Amino acid sequence: MADSQPSQPSQQWDPACYAEKAGFVAELGAPVLALLDPRPHERILDLGCGDGALTQRLAALAAAVVAVDSSAEQIAAARARGLDARVVSGQALPFAAEFDAVFSNAALHWMQDADAVIAGIRRALKPGGRFVAEFGGGGNCARVQAALHQILAARGHDPVGLDPWYFPTAEEYRAKLESHGFDVRYIEIIDRPTPLPGDIGDWLDVFAGTFFDVLTSDERAAVRAEITDLLQPTLTDENGQWIADYVRLRLAARLPG
Ligand code: BEZ
Repeated sequence: MADSQPSQPSQQWDPACYAEKAGFVAELGAPVLALLDPRPHERILDLGCGDGALTQRLAALAAAVVAVDSSAEQIAAARARGLDARVVSGQALPFAAEFDAVFSNAALHWMQDADAVIAGIRRALKPGGRFVAEFGGGGNCARVQAALHQILAARGHDPVGLDPWYFPTAEEYRAKLESHGFDVRYIEIIDRPTPLPGDIGDWLDVFAGTFFDVLTSDERAAVRAEITDLLQPTLTDENGQWIADYVRLRLAARLPG
């Protein structure tokens, strides 16, 4: 899920914390797995596999699955599930014409060099291979992102430089795919307000590490509380349930045969 390149802020992952507070990410991956429609003879690359929770379901449906992620900690968790999981940057995929499909759930928004990612996917696929993915699209978590930027800027930090996320529109991403030779069969932005298992502070602990890395531990607690107060009126329902403003970009594309 993480993807570290020298030019972009690097998110660190704690698999135990991820399993406790972000299990919903794999749970909500069912529709994109259905869109992939893996076949029993296929060899599939799972790009940005995280702790491998969804990869494990995919592996039960295909002949072979190679799972990659740039986080060594998440790859160790994926290997503990018995998966063929490797530490690889999604922005420097080393594969050549070996996969029937490349699959990715909730990972590509961590990879800001989208052209490098798509070029690597193209290289990794066999002729006629398909690319099926879902990740954060334009407007994803906009309220959370705006709150982070506002509060970090007020404390004298440059929030743009700390922001690791890439949330393209469907038009922008379609143009990129087509410029790399893909035939885009389906691409859609989907609003998906997402109930969180805990509060927004728990979400920040898992997903917003790069913004907090520049703060002292006292400041971290204060910023966590400020963001919670700022977002509570718009991101909780009448029962106090936190609902994050997720927007997905879901797509299926194919290379010429
Ligand atoms: C997402 O899955 O959409 C997401 C994850 C982390 C930060 C922002 C968005």
